[in-house]
Amino acid sequence: MRDFKGKIVFVSGGASGGGLGQAKVFGREGMKVAIGDVRQDALDNAVKELIAFGIPEKDILAIKVDLTDRADYTRCADKIEEVFGGPPHLLIQTAGVNSFGPIEASTFDDFDWVMGVCLNHVVNGLLIFVPRMIKAYAHKTEFWVATTSSMGAFMAGSGTGPYSASKAAVNNLMYSYAEALKPYGAGATVLCPGNINSNIGNAEKFRPANLRNTGYHVSEGTMAHLRSIHATGIDPVELGEILKEGIENERIIVLPDHTPELRAQQLRGLNETIEDYTLTGAERAAKAAKRAEEMQKMFAEMAKNSDGKEAPPMMGWAVPEGAEPFGMARDDLDWIDSSKKLQK
Ligand code: NAI
Repeated sequence: MRDFKGKIVFVSGGASGGGLGQAKVFGREGMKVAIGDVRQDALDNAVKELIAFGIPEKDILAIKVDLTDRADYTRCADKIEEVFGGPPHLLIQTAGVNSFGPIEASTFDDFDWVMGVCLNHVVNGLLIFVPRMIKAYAHKTEFWVATTSSMGAFMAGSGTGPYSASKAAVNNLMYSYAEALKPYGAGATVLCPGNINSNIGNAEKFRPANLRNTGYHVSEGTMAHLRSIHATGIDPVELGEILKEGIENERIIVLPDHTPELRAQQLRGLNETIEDYTLTGAERAAKAAKRAEEMQKMFAEMAKNSDGKEAPPMMGWAVPEGAEPFGMARDDLDWIDSSKKLQK
C-alpha cells in the first residue's frame, strides 16, 4: 500500500506511545485518523497532540472503546463508518499491555488480561474489520492490515510467558493474513519492536478491576523500573515511519532496529537453536552447549544499558535508585523458589 492520502486509518491503542506515533505519521500522510483506546483522558490528550502535529481536527476521530469487548469494538467500527463514510483502508492494531513475573506464579487474571489485550483484541479487530474492508475495497483501491507485535514473539522467557505467547500467536496470525489477503489485492504487516519509548511501564495502573489478582510482585517501584527501560526505547514517530516504509514495501515482518546486525545474529541463533533439535544424541548436546554460550554472550551485549554499563541479572536491566526489579513473584506464593522473590 503506497497511496494513503484521503483514506482512513484506524489505530487501536492510538492514545499513547507507539499507537499515537503511528496516528501522527499516517495523519501527516493526509489520512483521516480514527484512534480507539480505553482511557478517555489519554484520548483527549492524544487529540490535542495530533492537532499540534498538524493534523486537521475534522480528520481526527477519538473513540473510547474496550477492545477486548467484541460488542464495544463492533460499535467502534460502526462509528468510524458513520463519521468517515467507510471502514478503514488501513487497520493498525497496536493496543497492548504487559506484566512480567515467573510463569509458574501466573494467575488466570494475568493470562486473561495480557492475552485479552495483546492477542484477543487483535483477533476481534481482524474479524470485525477485514470482511468490511474486503467488501468495500477489494480490487477497487489499496487496503492493508498491520499489527504491533514485539521481538518477544520470537523468544520465550520464564518471566515473560503470557506476553511472549500472545505476541508469538499474533505473528503467526499475521503471516496467515498476509497470505490470505493477496487475492483481494491487500496484505498484512507485523511490526516487531524491541523497546518503545512509551507509557507501557504504567500499564499495571490501568489493569481492569476484575483482573487484578496477579501472581507477580507489582508496585510503584516495579513500574519505575519498567519506565526506566522504556525511556531508552525508540521514538514512537520514528517507529511509525518505519512501519509506513514496511507497508509501502509490502513487508510481512518489520524489525525496527538501530543495530540490525545484532538483531540478525540473535534471530539466526534462535532459529539455529530450534534447528539443532533435528540432530540427536551427543552431536546435538555439543552443538546446543556451544550455542547456549554464544547466545548468553550476545544477550549480555544487547542488554547493556544505553550508557554501556554492564547489565545485572534480573532480565538484564539495571534497577534505578528507589525502584524495585520487575519480574518477581508475589511474596506469599509459598511454592515459588525464593530466588524469584524480592530479596528484602
Ligand atoms: P502504551 O501503554 O503507551 O500504549 C498502549 C495503549 O493501549 C494505551 O493507551 C492503553 O490505554 C491501550 N489499551 C490497553 N488496553 C486496552 C483495551 N482493553 N482497550 C483499548 N485500549 C487499550 O504502550 P506501547 O508501548 O505504545 O504499546 C504499543 C504496542 O507495542 C503494544 O502492543 C506493545 O505490546 C507493543 N510493544 C511495546 C514495546 C515497548 O517497549 N513499549 C516493545 C515491543 C512491543
